Amino acid sequence: MSATDPAGAGGGGPWLLEARHLTKRYGAVIANRDVSFGVRPGEIVALLGENGAGKSTLVNVLYGMTAPDGGTLLVDGQPVRLRSPRDALARGIGMVHQHFMLVPPFTVAENVALGHEPSRHGAIDLATVEGRVVALAARFGMEVDPHAVIRDLSVGQQQRVEIIKALDRGARVLILDEPTAVLTPQETEGLFHVLRGLAAGGTSVVFISHKLGEVLDIADRIVVMRRGEVVGEVSPADATPESLAAMMVGREVLLRVEKAPATPGEAMVVLRDVQVAGDRGGRAVDGVTFEVRAGEIVGIAGVQGNGQTELVEAIAGLRPVAGGSLWLCGVEAQRLGVRARAALGLAHVPEDRQRHGLVLPFSVADNLVLNRYHLAPLAIRGVRQARAILDLARNLVARFDIRPPIAEVPVQALSGGNKQKVIVARELSHDVRVLVAAQPTRGVDVGSIEFIHRSLVAARDAGAAVLVVSAELDELMSLADRVLVMFRGRVVGEVAGSEATREGIGLLMAGGGRQLGDVET
Ligand SMILES: Nc1ncnc2c1ncn2[C@@H]1O[C@H](COP(=O)(O)OP(=O)(O)OP(=O)(O)O)[C@@H](O)[C@H]1O
Ligand SMILES: [Mg+2]
Repeated sequence: MSATDPAGAGGGGPWLLEARHLTKRYGAVIANRDVSFGVRPGEIVALLGENGAGKSTLVNVLYGMTAPDGGTLLVDGQPVRLRSPRDALARGIGMVHQHFMLVPPFTVAENVALGHEPSRHGAIDLATVEGRVVALAARFGMEVDPHAVIRDLSVGQQQRVEIIKALDRGARVLILDEPTAVLTPQETEGLFHVLRGLAAGGTSVVFISHKLGEVLDIADRIVVMRRGEVVGEVSPADATPESLAAMMVGREVLLRVEKAPATPGEAMVVLRDVQVAGDRGGRAVDGVTFEVRAGEIVGIAGVQGNGQTELVEAIAGLRPVAGGSLWLCGVEAQRLGVRARAALGLAHVPEDRQRHGLVLPFSVADNLVLNRYHLAPLAIRGVRQARAILDLARNLVARFDIRPPIAEVPVQALSGGNKQKVIVARELSHDVRVLVAAQPTRGVDVGSIEFIHRSLVAARDAGAAVLVVSAELDELMSLADRVLVMFRGRVVGEVAGSEATREGIGLLMAGGGRQLGDVET
């Protein structure tokens, strides 16, 4: 491991983009402290670090979205001031955000054309833009139809459009902030293929991810941040998932959960021939039957879009059960509302934290009690007990290592992974009889994944029935006592957690299993 020394550029040639001694403060929080960082032409650099380490802050500064309080940016060795992303793009720096900035009712070509200066005639020549989209897509092996409407595209396809948009504006450095957090493993492979092609053509890539295997797979160089500072740099050839985790967190991390065999009890979640409609009609869930018992963790695997999301929403009460029956804690539940299900002891970690999990302008404390603020001791005879709320919140902030450890800040000021920790803390903090968790560790760093996994196993051992849906096979194989595989709205297979292999589950996910209408549990 060598120290990062952008000013000297080591022996690897000149920097295309360089930051020297950057500092950025948010009130008392120092998000970046004396950060020096550089990217060479054609290089793929991964930025790694705990939640709140300052990765997004750094790339937002590089993209002109955030003004630093101190330090210098250089492009091709020349100092520059970036006042906006437009300035950054003019210098060849492009970025793909995790929450895409595309206009859903517009076509791909219209979105790429947006923001371009109109021609002399005041109009944008759409045919020219379409031609450029096709050419860029072909050159980097992406399948993109310029006439497709954005809202009809999958997340992975929309990401391609964002990449094309940046390349079309002449990006020589492409920054991606957790691009794979929302992708399936298959889509991630596709993205990596594109990134390798870009790098081979001389484009530089800055890539943020919490998935250590991915980082080792794609990066030429890995830069690690901790608590606002760059703490080291390593070549993938000299690193392992364990060594990277230790570098990030500053201690050894268990990458696999340790747990005793399950001792399942009563069936707490019972689905019989459940059907759920999808967003565009049709049956997203098409006759699913299974049970989750007290004291076991059942995992659901599947390629995104095979009904898992709709299934979880139906169990949580966010989407109607269109057919069949659902029982929770011994009560027929398909007609119950969200609150009535919560009263039975159901906790839910939703997949889309921006939409369902959090009220962004509210404080961390208020978000931590969202499901309980009306109950004693947080409210007594309808009167809010501010002290009790704050005490509970402070306790959870400490237990779940939410950073910064201040319960009063609005939750929108938290980094992505810390927002996720707020939801998990809230849902796991009370007596849970049934926990349904969708992508519980999305965007969460390795140290916190370890903690969340331990918490899920602890909930199981305390007698909760736990259902986990995850796009991460490693997560399911390590957590679940049984893994069910969904394909086209049905459960097509079941594997014991101890016998699960990537290959076995992967085959079922691709539809290679026999059709099990009813999986006996
Ligand atoms: N707009 C803001 N207002 C206040 N604080 C902020 C703001 N943006 C970031 N911070 C704080 O700056 C620190 C760094 O956050 P940043 O988003 O850069 O972390 P990160 O490394 O990207 O984390 P994650 O892996 O969770 O995405 C955090 O403590 C965060 O709470
Ligand atoms: Mg971030």
